[in-house]
Amino acid sequence: VRLNVFILPRSAMSETPLFSAFRALTGTRQSCRAFLNTPVPRATIVEMLTAIQRAPSDCNTQPWRLFLLSGAPLEALRQDLYEAARSGQDRVSDIPPIQSYTGVYQDRRRACGWVLYEAVGIAKGDCRASSLQALENFRFFGAPHVAIVTSPQVLGERGIFDTGIYLGHLLLAAQSLGLACVAQGAIAHHADVLRRHAPVPEDHQIICGLSFGYGDKTHAANSFRTERAALDEMVTFLD
Ligand SMILES: Cc1cc2nc3c(=O)[nH]c(=O)nc-3n(C[C@H](O)[C@H](O)[C@H](O)COP(=O)(O)O)c2cc1C
Repeated sequence: VRLNVFILPRSAMSETPLFSAFRALTGTRQSCRAFLNTPVPRATIVEMLTAIQRAPSDCNTQPWRLFLLSGAPLEALRQDLYEAARSGQDRVSDIPPIQSYTGVYQDRRRACGWVLYEAVGIAKGDCRASSLQALENFRFFGAPHVAIVTSPQVLGERGIFDTGIYLGHLLLAAQSLGLACVAQGAIAHHADVLRRHAPVPEDHQIICGLSFGYGDKTHAANSFRTERAALDEMVTFLD
């Protein structure tokens, strides 16, 4: 495990209270893959969604739309989606899936998979156990709420890009409220099933899902942290 620690001289650090809070949020957020079934009060959800409406977007187009399922509608979706994935039903995706991950992206993808499988006690090469764990995506890892995240086709990649920024706001807002989340690209590959359970307009593309609630802190699936690349792999300073 390589830890990337950046030590700056005190004078160079911008240690404002807001930055401390921000760093605490980014430093503690992690994807949750085991939820308690306790629902989040509607007032909390509304407050969170109201705050993140401030997310920026190209020309302030605000392209994101959420279809938020809880209670009986969620249970019906959970059952249908799990069955579709378990039985190997043909995939239907509004946004084409990535055909193949290569190079460093493949390495990082594998590393994040292995760290999860190791945490839940699945040995490398145990395909059956890995598939069963992957299928938990389609049960939303037990979450009491799932949002289907969409963007209008007419705004194309710009809309998807802005919706990604919105999603980032949502993940951190949830963290600030003590909620746990996981974004789920996996469920977008059964867009036909999702559309049977939510009135997503035909001219909107389903980008991903977002499951949220309260995390089960004792569950092995939540017991690990993913790595990050060193800053100099990502940022080029040109002075
Ligand atoms: C757009 C998007 C889609 C994702 N799809 C899935 C998914 O389908 N299933 C899953 O378990 N995690 C999914 N994740 C979570 C990533 O695997 C996770 O963010 C990454 O490994 C970094 O780990 P961390 O969130 O714990 O920091 C997704 C994340 C994003 C941003």
